[in-house]
Amino acid sequence: MSWWSETVVPRLIEKACRSAEILEERERWVPRAHGRVLELGVGSGLNLAFYDPTRVEQVVGIDPSAALLARAAARVKDAKVPVELQQARAEALPFADASFDSALVTYSLCSVDDLSRAVAEVRRVVKPAGELVFVEHGRAPDRGPQRWQRRLTPVWRRVGGGCRLDRDVVGALRAGGWAVDDLREGYTKGPRWLSYTYEGTATAS
Ligand SMILES: C[S@@+](CC[C@H](N)C(=O)[O-])C[C@H]1O[C@@H](n2cnc3c(N)ncnc32)[C@H](O)[C@@H]1O
Repeated sequence: MSWWSETVVPRLIEKACRSAEILEERERWVPRAHGRVLELGVGSGLNLAFYDPTRVEQVVGIDPSAALLARAAARVKDAKVPVELQQARAEALPFADASFDSALVTYSLCSVDDLSRAVAEVRRVVKPAGELVFVEHGRAPDRGPQRWQRRLTPVWRRVGGGCRLDRDVVGALRAGGWAVDDLREGYTKGPRWLSYTYEGTATAS
């Protein structure tokens, strides 16, 4: 681990993830999670305050970054639901099959190394009737922003904690056995190569 990824990246991530637009997305989607919830890439715990205590029994948040998990631990007190944090990667979840009622992922599928493996792992640990709630940025539909996404991703990935700009998030979910039931997509505030956002829910298909 370099000084950049251990010290600077966690601060950059936290700052980037606190915009007013992202806050509104958290308010809109996090309360959709229910039962025993797995949060993938919990980061600094910015979703924890938004879980609905009338629907959620427990949240288990995983992330590979010890620095971000330490920040999340400081936010557990803001949550109105029981929270457990674990250091783990989405590609190798240390949980039994069908052990969660739902999963939540916000702005983390861009950063996992093996997206199809991660999608398959979530499918494995969420119950067959369970739901995945997601808010992710990814591949834009227009050729201009797509070109920039392809050009910038190699550098962006190196400075931004592994974040890829050009991932077809919804395509990966569908290929991994998730039926996307509810989808909103579009450009949000900011450069078009960064701001194309997919928000929605999926169930095991
Ligand atoms: C942009 S941050 C988003 C954090 C948080 N989900 C949020 O919305 O504030 C991306 C997160 O993905 C995490 N991450 C990177 N690789 C991962 C992996 N293989 N499995 C799970 N999380 C990963 C990072 O450590 C980081 O916390």
